[in-house]
Amino acid sequence: MIESIIFDLDGVLVFTDKFHYQAWKQMADSIGVYFDEEINNRLRGVSRMDSLEIILERYEGEPLSDERKLELAAEKNEIYRGLLSTMTPDDVSTNVRETLKALHERGYKLSLGSSSKNARYILERVDLLDAFDAISDGNNISRSKPDPEVFLKAAGFLGSDPRYCLVVEDAEAGIDAAISGGMHSAAIGDAVNCKKAEKELQKLSDLLDFCL
Ligand code: BG6
Ligand code: MG
Repeated sequence: MIESIIFDLDGVLVFTDKFHYQAWKQMADSIGVYFDEEINNRLRGVSRMDSLEIILERYEGEPLSDERKLELAAEKNEIYRGLLSTMTPDDVSTNVRETLKALHERGYKLSLGSSSKNARYILERVDLLDAFDAISDGNNISRSKPDPEVFLKAAGFLGSDPRYCLVVEDAEAGIDAAISGGMHSAAIGDAVNCKKAEKELQKLSDLLDFCL
């Protein structure tokens, strides 16, 4: 039985990967670190500071202080926010918008479950804030996926037992988080390849086939 559905944001509802890539690339170039799309793929679902650590695996300069790392992450975020500011409601597909609406009409409680501290800003830009009953994001967690904290918080906000929650994710770390949180899971996009989720979606509206 499923009563609540928790959606990841980046890669499930909107496609901000390209903006993360551009912003990290600019930051990496500024300190002379090699960065490519393959490394960018490893950042899916990972928090901002953990993402920076992954990028710095290739760093060969003088050791960076924690303060400098925070500065680099802030620089990346400023570039990223600039790119996000170009987003509009047209950046959400009709498939996504109508699926969320239909699930609500069928009586499911909906929450966001995103590692991003920019989640609310993105939802505002694309006019999806009202589609959710709760928002759990990078601002209310201390451990990022694959830790289940962000999803357990979402379940708590909705007043749902984790056993009755379904998580929709495009990152393997997110599917791992759902499983360790004792929740049902549905993979979309990249996460389909890890073969760990209970359900695999080609498109978001495939949810409507089993969330009746
Ligand atoms: C996740 C993205 O949604 O948010 C990650 O998949 C990103 O790539 C993480 O690092 C944190 O995002 P932000 O917006 O808080 O820097
Ligand atoms: Mg994602």
